[in-house]
Amino acid sequence: MGWITVTIRIVCLFTLLWSVNGIGVNWGTQASHLLPPDTVVRMLRENGIQKVKLFDADYGILKALGKTGIEVMVGIPNDMLASVGGSMKAAEKWVAKNVSEHISSNNVNIRYVAVGNEPFLETYNGSYLHITLPALSNIQSALIKAGIGSQVKVTVPLNADVYASSNTYPSGGDFRTDIFDPMLKIVKFLNDSNSPFTVNIYPFISLYTDSNFPVEYAFFDGNATPLNDGGTLYYNMFDANLDTLAHALQKNGFGNLPIIVGEIGWPTDGDRNANIEYARRFNQGFMSHISGGKGTPMRPVPIDAYLFSLIDEDEKSIDPGNFERHWGIFYFDGQVKYPLNLGTTNSGALIPAKGVQYLERKWCVMKPSAPLDDPQVAQSVSYACGLADCTSLGYGTSCGNLDARGNISYAFNSYFQKNNQLEKACEFPNVSVITKTDPTPTVGNCKFPIMIQPYYESAGRRFGCGQMPLPLVSVLLLLLLTVVQL
Ligand SMILES: *[C@@H]1O[C@H](CO)[C@@H](O)[C@H](O)[C@H]1NC(C)=O
Ligand SMILES: *[C@@H]1O[C@H](CO)[C@@H](O)[C@H](O)[C@H]1NC(C)=O
Ligand SMILES: *[C@@H]1O[C@H](CO)[C@@H](O)[C@H](O)[C@H]1NC(C)=O
Ligand SMILES: *[C@@H]1O[C@H](CO)[C@@H](O)[C@H](O)[C@H]1NC(C)=O
Ligand SMILES: *[C@@H]1O[C@H](CO)[C@@H](O)[C@H](O)[C@H]1NC(C)=O
Repeated sequence: MGWITVTIRIVCLFTLLWSVNGIGVNWGTQASHLLPPDTVVRMLRENGIQKVKLFDADYGILKALGKTGIEVMVGIPNDMLASVGGSMKAAEKWVAKNVSEHISSNNVNIRYVAVGNEPFLETYNGSYLHITLPALSNIQSALIKAGIGSQVKVTVPLNADVYASSNTYPSGGDFRTDIFDPMLKIVKFLNDSNSPFTVNIYPFISLYTDSNFPVEYAFFDGNATPLNDGGTLYYNMFDANLDTLAHALQKNGFGNLPIIVGEIGWPTDGDRNANIEYARRFNQGFMSHISGGKGTPMRPVPIDAYLFSLIDEDEKSIDPGNFERHWGIFYFDGQVKYPLNLGTTNSGALIPAKGVQYLERKWCVMKPSAPLDDPQVAQSVSYACGLADCTSLGYGTSCGNLDARGNISYAFNSYFQKNNQLEKACEFPNVSVITKTDPTPTVGNCKFPIMIQPYYESAGRRFGCGQMPLPLVSVLLLLLLTVVQL
């Protein structure tokens, strides 16, 4: 092979790596039962998904992403900002361990480090306001020092509430006054280091928090009354919101700073507006909306976006609302929720996870003989719901039409499944029983799920029950041989 061929190959590879586009996904891990990383990575590949965004630097997940070419945005959680922002050494260690090592030893295609996650949310009371920029700056310096500064860029995923419009039109956009100075410093830093601005945009939350929000304006069908911003018409909230940011950037001298949409999506349960129909309509609408690459009026360039999210997470905080545990385009077990064409598979359909290991087909339900007014019932339900997941119960949710017994059984079963079907987890005093008859109602979307096999992590490595680590297998084999010889 001549040097020209080699050069061409390198150039081609480089172009390929740099030109990866298409839709990305957020891969979160706040779940009681995670699918094995290899299973998820296979699912990503089969679905043609070329970009993932992570919320930390999970060793097992990064390992599974090695040699796949999938672009990775790896995250630094907010609670680590003080440490990497306060010490250059800590930042260097973080980069060495969580970026460099994965790139050099396992060819993980890490392209971005997300420094913090929505650190300026009002609910944090400014806790991260003055530590985010130092963290960003230290990580950037550490990347340069490690020789990967041009390959791996820094960014800060921010909630869309860091900016607002003074007059409800995108053209009135500017940064929130209480965080104006820190925002400007961050934007300047991103601009100077050739890094993108990352924003999370949620029309669902607008609809959830404001009962007067025009429903149609959340979607992309063009049925909403457009917003007329000095002659520019906005038919959906997404475009208007992104352009509010574009105006804010332009107003402050950063009109060319690239924008990444870090999170966008719609939940399928836990609220009257969170359902399969709306989620499909929103996500499919979004995919069609960006597929032409025409962008928004202010930013007529292809939109770089990550769907929120890949898989449901049953341990997310429900402080923002019960919908929080239902953002996935896949259920917790990697099964498809609804038809969604990402434009990345031949069939145009989503492909579910393969080889998923489930627990036995059994459920914990309310004992048929137990009376509804048994004083143990209410107490047991609130205990079960507190520790497991009852976000599919309630007005307008998937299991919202269950009768009182169905409700109670749902709560018991959730607790039982989350606890790996331990017999002890179905011993609500005299009111529960284990059954092999599926209690799932025959009509509607309500599901009484069977949990997946737990997947354990040990010393930075993860292994499933069926995949014991080699040393353990050898020891067992040795033991067996000894017994046979005796
Ligand atoms: C690497 O990332 C993990 C996961 O976020 C974190 O727990 C660990 O402390 C990081 N390592 C270093 C050396 O900072
Ligand atoms: C923010 O402040 C409020 C009111 O002072 C308090 O209730 C809340 O716990 C604080 N949150 C954080 C994350 O510090
Ligand atoms: C942003 O970066 C560009 C190019 O890197 C530079 O020309 C411009 O002056 C920067 N803008 C500001 C306001 O610093
Ligand atoms: C079932 O539970 C939900 C949520 O806890 C409650 O709103 C609903 O009223 C209950 N339904 C019945 C029939 O008890
Ligand atoms: C369970 O029921 C039995 C008989 O119906 C009764 O003797 C016992 O006290 C009950 N136990 C509890 C904890 O309610």
